[in-house]
Amino acid sequence: MIEVKNLYKSYRHKPVLNGIDMFVREPGVYAILGPNGTGKTTLLKIWMGLVRPDRGEVSIQGKSVLNDNAYRNQISYLPQIARFPDNLRVKELIRMTEYLRGNATRKNEMIELLGLTTYLSLSFRNLSGGTQQKVNLATCFMYDSPIVLLDEPTAGLDPVTLLRFKQFLQQEKERGKYIIITTHAMGLVEHLADQIFFLLEGRIHFQGTVQQLINQKNVNELEEAIALLLIHNQQTTEV
Ligand SMILES: Nc1ncnc2c1ncn2[C@@H]1O[C@H](COP(=O)(O)OP(=O)(O)O)[C@@H](O)[C@H]1O
Ligand SMILES: [Mg+2]
Repeated sequence: MIEVKNLYKSYRHKPVLNGIDMFVREPGVYAILGPNGTGKTTLLKIWMGLVRPDRGEVSIQGKSVLNDNAYRNQISYLPQIARFPDNLRVKELIRMTEYLRGNATRKNEMIELLGLTTYLSLSFRNLSGGTQQKVNLATCFMYDSPIVLLDEPTAGLDPVTLLRFKQFLQQEKERGKYIIITTHAMGLVEHLADQIFFLLEGRIHFQGTVQQLINQKNVNELEEAIALLLIHNQQTTEV
């Protein structure tokens, strides 16, 4: 369904992705984890055609994303940083998105889920960071796309919204979506992720389930297992 083969990307001779291979065959939640600056956002941007790789291939339903834009209709992408024209009101941003992407079938549902009704007439720039992120989420999920790419969707969300969002993602997973997510919210990963890809220094250092990682590292929690992955790698790079 979604395949990444031998992907390389450098920015001005600084290597970021050094040969990434990934395969997503079944619907479900796939978490791309790793420390800051390790290339998670770059990887998602390559999938969206926003950044071109130096080498390698990304294909969705057997078609390369490098030469064709049509596949993007099947994807909803949540950028890590929402850059909207910030003088526009929330309702105008939603309208602008619809103008660009077509009618949103789940607009009212998302406005309600994210508690945005009272913010619709406010300018984006006057919203708190958390509310801006809710607008970002609403414009992403108001389309019922089979593939969803989420770059740190939980950043800045309050605990109630975070809980609602987790429940919503669970429902979306049960509806058979392909959800690719980068996040530092380990609780969400433990509850929802079917597979983890752990990215470090441009390579995938672990691929498997949360339980497989916990067993492999012989610990009780995902956070501990992730910490061990990082420490182990530091030791091996220093030797
Ligand atoms: N447009 C760019 N130009 C130059 N360097 C970039 C650019 N985008 C990202 N980088 C660098 O690439 C590395 C990976 O960034 P990013 O993909 O944002 O990582 P992550 O999402 O895992 O935090 C970082 O060192 C970052 O500074
Ligand atoms: Mg990022």
